[in-house]
Amino acid sequence: MTDRRITIDYIEYSAVGEMEPGDRELVAAALEAREGSYSPYSKFRVGAALRLADGTIVKGANQENVAYPSGLCAERTAMFWAGANRPGVAFDTLAIVGGNGEEVCEMPAAPCGACRQVMAEYQRLYDRPLKIILIGTHAIYKFSKVDDILPLIFDSLKVE
Ligand code: THU
Repeated sequence: MTDRRITIDYIEYSAVGEMEPGDRELVAAALEAREGSYSPYSKFRVGAALRLADGTIVKGANQENVAYPSGLCAERTAMFWAGANRPGVAFDTLAIVGGNGEEVCEMPAAPCGACRQVMAEYQRLYDRPLKIILIGTHAIYKFSKVDDILPLIFDSLKVE
């Protein structure tokens, strides 16, 4: 038996002004993306902004439905739009922000497990680390790859 530990590296910013200009732009886009949230049931408005490898930004927002499981998270809305409309263009950075109504969460809103799994798929598809930015009013976290928010990724059907 061996005790092991998985460690996660990430950067914490205390304000958006500490970030590099491209990331600041992506944070602003994620905040704007919340305007597209359709969340009459949870009232939790989530915005996502995905920068593609060619520099373009794709926005997504959570879309709910009276049949609850039929809705979709903001992150997957953005990623699936990019997958469908910009096939072959790798994902560079995904920024996410959430909060009730007009409020933004103080601490960064963490993406759900299903969204993390979808991030992992596109990261593998394009063989390029997908950076993740989680936004809160009191802190912003930046991860350099999906592995850091989804350790022990399931990304292969092969039995090694
Ligand atoms: N939601 C997202 O958009 N992203 C996440 O990663 C977590 C949850 C949405 C789904 C639902 O519309 C609302 O937030 C409450 O769960």
